[in-house]
Amino acid sequence: MDDIIQIKDMTKTFGSGDGAITALRDINLDIRRGEIFGIIGLSGAGKSTLVRCINLLERPTEGSVSVAGKTLTDLSEAELRRARQSIGMIFQSFNLLMQRTVLDNVCFPLELQKMPKSQRQERGMELLRIVGLADRANAYPAQLSGGQKQRVAIARAVANNPQVLLCDEATSALDPNTTRSILDLIRDINRTTGVTVVVITHEMKVIEQICHRVAVIDKSQIVELGDVSEVFTSPKSDIARELILPRHEDGSETGVIPQLVGTKVIRVVFNGGTAYEPLIASLAIDCGIKVNILGADTRNIDGKAFGSMLLGLPHDPLQAARAMAYIQDRQDVVAEEVPDYHA
Ligand SMILES: Nc1ncnc2c1ncn2[C@@H]1O[C@H](COP(=O)(O)OP(=O)(O)OP(=O)(O)O)[C@@H](O)[C@H]1O
Ligand SMILES: [Mg+2]
Repeated sequence: MDDIIQIKDMTKTFGSGDGAITALRDINLDIRRGEIFGIIGLSGAGKSTLVRCINLLERPTEGSVSVAGKTLTDLSEAELRRARQSIGMIFQSFNLLMQRTVLDNVCFPLELQKMPKSQRQERGMELLRIVGLADRANAYPAQLSGGQKQRVAIARAVANNPQVLLCDEATSALDPNTTRSILDLIRDINRTTGVTVVVITHEMKVIEQICHRVAVIDKSQIVELGDVSEVFTSPKSDIARELILPRHEDGSETGVIPQLVGTKVIRVVFNGGTAYEPLIASLAIDCGIKVNILGADTRNIDGKAFGSMLLGLPHDPLQAARAMAYIQDRQDVVAEEVPDYHA
């Protein structure tokens, strides 16, 4: 596997002596080229420190960081400045230059690279078209909404075709609809350019909408890592359960496994022909497929099930189709797809 980011035995300590704070401890992390990798954790867990150590805005106290084949921790400041050109970053607070127009903000990194003015303005306009803001090229950041500001920041971050885009709580200041559209934009850019994206967030919705894999960070350490579907459907650490599983008002888990975006949901109706456990069990045994029970309204009469049950099929389209075919094939239940299911 082609890893674009490799973090080895990294520790980051702020200060020294009694006042020392270890923000990251023994971090080992490999991020694959082209993936959207999420890092989730509570406030203070060390998320921002981790992304800042990826581009060496913070220098790790111990260990090494490599990005796109260069060991950043071994480079001189001048070499590091050059290497950083392949890493773009966006923030919760947008960090735009308020005295410059939208276009000049986007062109800023190109200006630093000494690209001729006409060329960089052409590239700037192309980027503004990609993020849907070509008509605001001459506006100033103060005249834009939060979502628009973040679009400008994204255009600026990818202006010189970085190989990695770091996003630190990029949508935390935005409302849910704007968040969705910004995440869609990031995913589109990931698909069209192949840029590797690292997304830092404390919100599981962000992870489930765009990430392929996720690491859960708690108290300076990575406590869990895997495919999003795997971590979300069976979180192992306490902190992952806390972040991911829906809760009652008193804080107890509802027992409902979160519904992943894009998962196909079906309603299975039982008419007394069978009990429902065997259906789930035989899916697992005969097909090797694990389905999630999202909800059930069944009554058990003499060991026979009546009523219906909502099942979340696996993320993998092939497995989902196999599960669906298997259920439809059975004479004892009726299955139908539930379009646009929302938990
Ligand atoms: N420059 C610094 N000097 C001293 N301590 C710091 C510094 N930056 C971060 N820390 C400490 O490191 C720990 C991790 O902070 P960090 O900002 O990485 O957390 P976070 O997960 O990003 O939190 P949040 O979700 O609130 O942004 C915290 O205890 C914080 O106080
Ligand atoms: Mg932070």
